[in-house]
Amino acid sequence: MTDDDALIRDIRAREGKYADDGDVPAATLYERVGGGAFFDQLVTAFYAGVVADPALRPLYPDDDIDGARQRLRDFLAQYWGGPTTYSDERGHPRLRMRHAPFVIAELERDRWLTHMRAAVDALAPDPADRDELLAYFEMAADAMRNATRPSA
Ligand code: HEM
Repeated sequence: MTDDDALIRDIRAREGKYADDGDVPAATLYERVGGGAFFDQLVTAFYAGVVADPALRPLYPDDDIDGARQRLRDFLAQYWGGPTTYSDERGHPRLRMRHAPFVIAELERDRWLTHMRAAVDALAPDPADRDELLAYFEMAADAMRNATRPSA
C-alpha cells in the first residue's frame, strides 16, 4: 500500500466511507453507475423527452439546449460524488433561485419527473441505485415547485 493509499484510507476511515469489510472504500453512486458516461446518457435521454414535451419545451432556452444539458449533467454528476465541475464553473447551485424565473407547478413537476424516470429506466442501473436516484429526483422536483394552478 502506497503512502497515498494509506492517506486515502485514513481520510475515508475518518469520513466513515468504508464498506463493511473495512478494507474497500464505499463507492459513491457516481462510481457505482459508471461515472460520467452514465450522466451523459441520462441527461441526453431526459432532454430528448423535454424537447418533445409541449408543457416543458417553452421553458428552455431555444438557442442553448446543449448548454442546459451540460449544466444539468455536471450538477448531477457532482451531486452523486463526481467532479466539482458544476460549482467550479457556476458557483453554489442555489437551485430554487435559478428556477424562480420559470413557472413550475404540479404539471411541470410531474412532466419533469416523467422524463427523468424514463431516462433512469432506459439506463437500468442497479435497483438500489435506481431507488436512490428516483427518491432524490422526486424530492428535488417537488422542491422546485414555485406555483400552483387552481384545479379546473
Ligand atoms: C420540477 C421541474 C423542473 C423544471 C420545469 C425545470 C426547468 C429548468 C429550466 C427551464 C432550466 C434552465 C435551463 C438552462 O438554461 O440551464 C433549468 C436549469 C437547471 N435545472 Fe431545472 N427544472 C426542474 C427541476 C429540476 C431538478 C429537480 C433539478 C435537480 C435535481 C434541476 C436542476 C437544474 C440545473 C442544475 C439547472 C442549471 C442551473 C444553472 O446552472 O443555471 N432542475 N431547469
